[in-house]
Amino acid sequence: MGRSHVNAMSEGRDSKLNWLDLLWLLLLAGLAVLPPIQEYHKQLILLAFGILQLSEGWLVARLPSRGPAYIVLLKIALATVLIDHTNEIAINSYYYPIYYLPIVTAAEYFSPLATLLWTALASAAYCSYLYPAGQEFEIGTEPYELLAIRILFFFLAAMLVNRFVVENRRQTKRYQELAEALSETNRKLELAQAEARRSERLAALGQLSAGLAHEIRNPLGVIKASAEMLNQKLKESTPLASELAGYISTEVNRLSALVTRFLDFARPLHTELTPQDITPVLERSLQLVATMWKGGPVAVERHYQEDLPTIPLDESLCEQAFVNIIQNAYDAMGSEGGRLRVAAEISRSLGRDGIEVRLCDSGPGVPEDLREQIFNPFVTTKKTGVGLGLSIVSKIIDGHQGWIKVESGRSPDSPQSQGACFVMFFPLAVEATRSRPESELVIS
Ligand SMILES: Nc1ncnc2c1ncn2[C@@H]1O[C@H](COP(=O)(O)OP(=O)(O)O)[C@@H](O)[C@H]1O
Ligand SMILES: [Mg+2]
Repeated sequence: MGRSHVNAMSEGRDSKLNWLDLLWLLLLAGLAVLPPIQEYHKQLILLAFGILQLSEGWLVARLPSRGPAYIVLLKIALATVLIDHTNEIAINSYYYPIYYLPIVTAAEYFSPLATLLWTALASAAYCSYLYPAGQEFEIGTEPYELLAIRILFFFLAAMLVNRFVVENRRQTKRYQELAEALSETNRKLELAQAEARRSERLAALGQLSAGLAHEIRNPLGVIKASAEMLNQKLKESTPLASELAGYISTEVNRLSALVTRFLDFARPLHTELTPQDITPVLERSLQLVATMWKGGPVAVERHYQEDLPTIPLDESLCEQAFVNIIQNAYDAMGSEGGRLRVAAEISRSLGRDGIEVRLCDSGPGVPEDLREQIFNPFVTTKKTGVGLGLSIVSKIIDGHQGWIKVESGRSPDSPQSQGACFVMFFPLAVEATRSRPESELVIS
C-alpha cells in the first residue's frame, strides 16, 4: 500500500513539538472542557488522542511500512470508545465526527482504495452501536437515514483529502524526477565543457606548433642541402670535414622528422568513417607494436565481446591511435615486461550506444595529477619522449565523436597491481553536422 509514498511523507515530518501540534492540543483541550465534563474516561481518551498525534511522526519514521496502519487502527479504536463515553446511547453522541480523525489520517497515508477500506472500517465501528441501541429501542427509518448521511460524509471527506494528497505526491515525484534529470544534464554539460576545453587547447597549441614547424622546416632544408654538397665536395680532400658535414646532415634528418611529426599533429584531421569491425584494427595494432618491441616479455589478454557491431571508423587513424596507446603501455612496462589486457564490449555513454575499448597494462600507472595533462601536446615524462602520442590519440578519437579517459588499473581482483587503463568510447552512429573549429586550421 504505497510504501514509498509513506516513506516520502514521513521524511517531511519532524518529531519535534511545533505550533501545529500545540494547536492540536488546544483543540482537544477545547473538547475536554465541553460537556460531558464529569466523564473522566472522555478526558483520558482525548489525552490519548493528543499523545498519539504528537508521536505520529516518530512512529511513522520508525515503522514506515506498518506505522500508518497502527495509527489509523488506534485512532478508530479511540474514537469508538470516545463515542461510548459521551452519550447514554452511543450512536446518538455528538462526538461522532471524531471518526474524521482516523479517516483523514488514512487518506493522508494510503492509496484511494485503501482509504475507502479504512473509511468502511471506521463506519462499521460506528454502526456497531446500532446493536445495543436496537436491543433497547425500536428504531424507525429516520435514524437509519441520518446514519447513512453521516457515513456518506465520512466517505466524501476521505476521498476529498485523499485526492489532494495523491495529487501532491504525484507533484513531488515529478519535481524529484525533474531535479534528477537536471543534475544529469548538468553532469553532461560539465563533461562536454571539459572536452571542449581540451579541444581548444589542442587547437591553439596545434596552430602554434604548426607555424613554428613550418618556419623551421625551410632553413632545415637549406642546411641539409648545403651539408650534403659540402660532404660531396670535401670527400677526397679533407675526410674529417666531410665526416662533420655528414653529422650535420643526419642530425638535420632527425630534426626534420620531428618537425614532420609536429606538422602531422597540427594538420587538420580528415576522418573517413566507414562501418567496420574494431577488433581486427586492435589486433593489427597489437601485432605492430609487439614486432617492434625490444623490452621484457608482455602477455596480451584479449576480452572481446562476441558479435560486436560494426562502427564508423577511420581504419588507419584508429590503428595509429591504438598503436600510440599500446606503445605507451609497453614503454611503461619496460624491461620487466608485464600484462596487457585488451577488452572491447558494447556500452552506452551520454545517451549514445557504442563500443567501449579498454587497454590496461600492469606498469606503474599514471599519477592522479597527470591524468588530464598527458593528453596535452608536449607532455612527457620520458627522456626521449616528444609527448605528442596521446594528444594525437585524443584528436583522432574526437574525430570519431568518442571520448577517452585514463583510469587507475587497480581492479577488485588484483588490488595490489597498479597499471594504467585507457578507456575509449566509439559511438555506433556519428552525427553528420558537427562543426569542429580546429579542423578549419589549414597549413600550407
Ligand atoms: N600506459 C601508461 N602508463 C604510464 N604512463 C603513461 C602511459 N601512457 C602514457 N603515459 C604517460 O603519458 C605521457 C604522455 O604520453 P604520450 O603523449 O604518448 O607521449 P610520449 O610517449 O612521447 O611521452 C607519457 O610520457 C607517460 O608519462
Ligand atoms: Mg607515446
